[in-house]
Amino acid sequence: MSKTHIIAALDGDGIGPEIMAVALEALAIVGKQSGVTFDVRHAPFGGQAYFDTGSAFPEATKKVCDEADAILKGPIGLSFEESKKIPIDEQPERGALLPLRKRYNTFANFRPVYLPAELAHFSPLKPHAVAGGIDIMIIRELVGGLYFGEKERGVRNGLRYVKETLEYDEDQIKRILEVGFEEARKRKKVLHNVHKSNVLKSSVLWNEVLDEVAPGYPDVQVKHVIVDAAATALVLNPRQFDVMVMENMFGDILSDLGGGILGSLGLMPSACVGTKGSYYEPSHGSAPDIAGMGIANPYSMIGSVAMMLEKSFGMDAEARRLWDAMRFVFGQGFTTADLRDPEGKLKPVSTREFADKVLAKLAG
Ligand code: IPM
Ligand code: MN
Repeated sequence: MSKTHIIAALDGDGIGPEIMAVALEALAIVGKQSGVTFDVRHAPFGGQAYFDTGSAFPEATKKVCDEADAILKGPIGLSFEESKKIPIDEQPERGALLPLRKRYNTFANFRPVYLPAELAHFSPLKPHAVAGGIDIMIIRELVGGLYFGEKERGVRNGLRYVKETLEYDEDQIKRILEVGFEEARKRKKVLHNVHKSNVLKSSVLWNEVLDEVAPGYPDVQVKHVIVDAAATALVLNPRQFDVMVMENMFGDILSDLGGGILGSLGLMPSACVGTKGSYYEPSHGSAPDIAGMGIANPYSMIGSVAMMLEKSFGMDAEARRLWDAMRFVFGQGFTTADLRDPEGKLKPVSTREFADKVLAKLAG
């Protein structure tokens, strides 16, 4: 009997439905080639879901996600003006995305900063900085820290104030560090530990736990780097990094810096792996300004499918074929208008045409 995997597809907002549609076509080809059935079930999620159903993460969507073997999520979010029409706690980031992370306890966020030769022209860094390619895996803790700490807002002494707390317990730290070590072990056996222990006590505990975990990985070399210095080092010499591990907020910021190194967040897929489920999403927003124009590059969504194949279904070879197909199309000089092309030498095509070239390579 052939295998079936149930996939919850949350198309999301803005360019989400456009890039999801073609990514699912790629998934269908993989299914056909490998004899695996992907049973894809769409469900509303995000800003449009709020307008349509009154909830950014409707109960029916939760059910679809609960029953799925993996969740594929498009970008969500609305323009600033549209967002203001929604109560603050129901806005898609707070009302849908963070609850999704919490529901499946997706503590391990993998964000590849991957710039092979075929994509090198997108990077704003000088050729000498990117020669030979960049391949960094940023591992971001995703369900702790400031994002999920207690919050308070009020008025004290006649002044409005706000308090947000950064909290981690040792188990939360240990499990993400272990993910970092495991990843480093599979790759170059160097783990950059990003922290701010010169100021934050959370980082002091983080590093204490690291010292306890590290002996279990004698083959992995740990290098410490303070988060602000890491930002500079990433720009000056990104090739010195391979696997980097860090807490939630640091990872949010440095992974966007990674997008800057690549030349666009549109080149950043991601995997969010949890104890109760996993979901896969582009690291970027919904780009409402270009929604419906057919110019969004599907790389981050197809890349998220590749990460799902690898991490949820152990289909490493199939995942590699997706990456290879996209690299091949970029290598031929094709692009979409949303990606930067400072020298004007690339051949811009539509989302559909770009996807067709990827699908043709995949099928061929
Ligand atoms: C990301 C995004 C989210 C985050 C937002 C949309 C809540 O920026 O996935 O990096 O801050 O985690
Ligand atoms: Mn972010």
